[in-house]
Amino acid sequence: MAPRPVQGLAFEHKEAKKILAEVEALLGAEVSENSARQERNIMITATKTVRELATELPNATRIFEKLGIDYCCGGHKSLEEACKTANASVDRVLLALEQGVDASVSDTAGRDWSSAPLPELVDHIINTHHAYVKSELPRLEALIAKVVRVHGKNHPELETVQTAFTALGQELSAHLMKEEQILFPFVKHMSSANDCGPSCFGTVQNPIRVMMMEHDGAGEKLREMRQATSNYTLPADTCFSYGTLFGALQDFERDLHQHIHLENNILFPRAIALERNN
Ligand SMILES: [Fe+2]
Ligand SMILES: [Fe+2]
Repeated sequence: MAPRPVQGLAFEHKEAKKILAEVEALLGAEVSENSARQERNIMITATKTVRELATELPNATRIFEKLGIDYCCGGHKSLEEACKTANASVDRVLLALEQGVDASVSDTAGRDWSSAPLPELVDHIINTHHAYVKSELPRLEALIAKVVRVHGKNHPELETVQTAFTALGQELSAHLMKEEQILFPFVKHMSSANDCGPSCFGTVQNPIRVMMMEHDGAGEKLREMRQATSNYTLPADTCFSYGTLFGALQDFERDLHQHIHLENNILFPRAIALERNN
């Protein structure tokens, strides 16, 4: 598909209104007629990578999340490819992105992390996303165990969820420790001292490569859980805890996507560039 700005799309008036209403509902905010995108001169095209769009547009991750488009581990794909994988209409996604730029709600705590000082970004990731994972892991493990105990016999897929979540929890605990004790302090040091070496791991690209592989593994576990539960569809014979669990697992997934996006698409490329330029 040739790159072209979304404003050239020909939509039926009724269909366009319906999509705009969906976008407003999705963002929880009214979208305005004036395009902030035009002021910032950002081209929104299907040939751009998902990573570029997620970094440039403040509400893009919210839209990608809602439409099932992988913007963290799959951020290197073009929007067109990612839409194909997610079975989503490219035109619909482009229009949602176009309108979403103007809405006032953002998923990134109101900051443009592509230019904020790196130590602040690192602190934001630790204080927001790492803290969330650490507090949710024990709570969700206990909740899954309870739901498996009551409903596991009628819903064997819950055991798949439990196995995947237990493995995810173990992997994430080790992963966060490596980031907090090795990689992040090094990035902060590089940033504040303008000094990139020597380090115990050679170039910063080595630990980043490992962290990205571990992110892929985490994404795989999230997909396993989503697949086992048919996209977290609640069966008819469920209790309050079952619903609470599915809601909490989806919140956990959303937060982890945002967390990995900040690292894969913003922090890591900026750390690599900093090392190269020092
Ligand atoms: Fe992290
Ligand atoms: Fe990470």
